[in-house]
This record gives sequence, C-alpha cells and structure tokens, in this order.
Amino acid sequence: MSSIDIARESVAREALRYVRDGYVVGVGTGSTAMVFLRELHRSIINGAISNVLLVPTSTETEIEIVRLGLADLLRYPWQVDHIDIAIDGADEVDRKKNLIKGGGAALTREKVIDYWAREFVVIVDESKVFDSIPSKHPIPIEVIPFAWSIIKARLKELGGTAELRFGGGKRGPIVTDNGNYIIDYMPGTVTNIEDLERVIKEMPGVVEVGVFSGRRVSRVIIGRADGSVITMD
Ligand code: A5P
Repeated sequence: MSSIDIARESVAREALRYVRDGYVVGVGTGSTAMVFLRELHRSIINGAISNVLLVPTSTETEIEIVRLGLADLLRYPWQVDHIDIAIDGADEVDRKKNLIKGGGAALTREKVIDYWAREFVVIVDESKVFDSIPSKHPIPIEVIPFAWSIIKARLKELGGTAELRFGGGKRGPIVTDNGNYIIDYMPGTVTNIEDLERVIKEMPGVVEVGVFSGRRVSRVIIGRADGSVITMD
C-alpha cells in the first residue's frame, strides 16, 4: 500500500469517529472521500453504525453509494431538513483551515452540503497542507457556459493565469454536474484569500468559487505516511 493510501485510510477511519447513529451524513467527492465512504459502508454492514442517511455532493459519490448497495440510505438535499455532519476532501488546506476545493469539479454541490452541515470535517493527507493557498492547485471556479470568456478575461485582469478546464475523456470543456464549465485560476499574489473569493463570486456568471473559508470548517484531519493523524480544530 502506498503512503498516500495509508494516510487516506487513517483519516477516513478517524473521521468515522465523528459519525453517530441516526446521523444525516453529507458525503464528499474525490478519492479521499471515497475511502471514507467505503469505511462507512463497512461500519454499516458490521452494525457499528446504524440508521444513517447519506447525501452525496456529486454524481460520482451518488453512483458509489448505489454501487456499494446503500441506495436505500441515499437522500437528496430536498429529502432532509438538516445535515448533521459532512465529511469531504480538499486539494489544499492552510493553517487557518481555509481550503481550495474543486479538483474534481464538484465544488458547488460540495459547498452547498458542506456549509449546510452542522459539522464540516475535512480529511486530507499531509501533502495537501500549505502555508498559503493556492500554492500548487489553481482555484476552480464554476461558471455558466455563456460567460466563460468574459470571466476568464476579468480574472486575468486581476493578475495571474486563468484557463478553461478541458480533458477527462470528453472533447471540449468539461461540464459539471450542474451543466456548467470550470475555469482554473492561479492568482499572482494573494493578500487575503477570503477577499479574493468575494471579488470572484461577485462577477456575473460565476456560480461558485473553490475557496472554502476556514471559519466554516469544524476540523481538518491530516493523515501522515506512517498512519498517524493530526487534527486541527
Ligand atoms: C472535488 O471537486 C474536490 O473538491 C475534492 O474534494 C478534492 O479535489 C480532493 O480530492 P482527492 O481526495 O481525490 O484529492
């Protein structure tokens, strides 16, 4: 098993400790969230956790819930009146628990569910922790297709680079679960990531920005290659 796999399993198991019987659980998107979902599945099967409901943050997660045989537990946001806990991965985390998310283009549904949850727990391996963000990963921005070129130009005016996201087994730009496009924006210098989020969010045609405020994050569980975990509360 690779060191990343060890770290992912450790954080997934640690996150399970915060899931109680009867909880409505927001299930994140991405490879780390999928490890958590499989650990949760195991706990449901062996009876360690019971009566939970699962609200997915993407089509990927929804399909995996059904594939694991948990379709009976699947709920959409309009079928529940609250979410007790959301467990999700991230592309980057800083020391104030601010996040960059959306490497899998699921940022909008993730933000809806993660911010709605009473508790929002982030699970990452230690390679995702940086002094300032964005560091290696650009900020994903979901935009309506009609506005992509205008938003791309406006982002470039702010400084840095902005690219419409292509790839992933499809010709042309990738299309999100909501029928939109993604622009990946790497700013020049960032003095305040929350101010930057606000400026981008105010651009007409922007649906959501892949900056998640640390103030909305209950805790970040960081997994190390040796299987140990650190929790930032
Ligand atoms: C999905 O759009 C993202 O926000 C993911 O949560 C993020 O990319 C982390 O994914 P991994 O766990 O696969 O690195």
